[in-house]
Amino acid sequence: MQISLARQVALVTGASSGIGHAAAKALAAAGAAVVINYNSSARPAEALAAQINAEGGKALAIGADVSKEDEVERLFAKTVDAFGSLDILVANSGLQKDAAAVDMTLDDWNKVIGVNLTGQFLCARAALRIFQRQGVRAGVSRAAGKIIHMSSVHQRIPWAGHVNYAASKGGVDQLMQSLAQEVSHQRIRINSIAPGAISTAINAEATAGAAGEKLLELIPYGRIGDVEDVANAVVFLASDLSDYIVGTTLFIDGGMSLYPEFRGNG
Ligand code: BGC
Repeated sequence: MQISLARQVALVTGASSGIGHAAAKALAAAGAAVVINYNSSARPAEALAAQINAEGGKALAIGADVSKEDEVERLFAKTVDAFGSLDILVANSGLQKDAAAVDMTLDDWNKVIGVNLTGQFLCARAALRIFQRQGVRAGVSRAAGKIIHMSSVHQRIPWAGHVNYAASKGGVDQLMQSLAQEVSHQRIRINSIAPGAISTAINAEATAGAAGEKLLELIPYGRIGDVEDVANAVVFLASDLSDYIVGTTLFIDGGMSLYPEFRGNG
């Protein structure tokens, strides 16, 4: 089955690397025009946009810090200016600032909540305003717009040494469900993806060498995930193939959220 997102416009935040980068690539391959948002790393975002354009697609890299209201507003305005509409938001930007709770600075707490949770709210709000104005675009998609929040297995699994990150992702879960409850009647579809251990820069240390071997004990399926594992699901959730999927979290984690420690007995 071929998924086509032709005539749709997608915006992916935090798309200069990792899951966001792969998601932008996959959405473009499915035919969407793609805005590749970055915060500090312009170069890889611009390189991906150039590659997509050279291959006959449509893409534009736009810088914005998603934790800042004015920058988010500008990002969405520029998107609509460039491509005329918005159909898909992948609210993906996220970071970790790990420390034991007793040592965690307020700055590192605020920074993670600011990007991972407030940033997802600000982007979702901006997208909803566009979707509501636009309505269902006949012949383009059955929905007036789709939002995919990038959560984590840590919306469910508590994570010592990462209280800011786990709290932000727990927040994303309620943000997503509450938004879905609020706007689904307007034919706006909102869902989350909760990746487990995916090989990216955010967890380069944890996925390599001996640490990687240890990590595998937490993954029943026996491998670390690839960014494409998540990107494929982004395309599916953005497409009409998932038109009746509303307010759900899709765990893409090789079974990490199945409490594998209990496999032996408990
Ligand atoms: C984190 C990774 C971690 C994974 C599984 C993700 O949300 O960003 O660093 O490896 O969860 O624990």
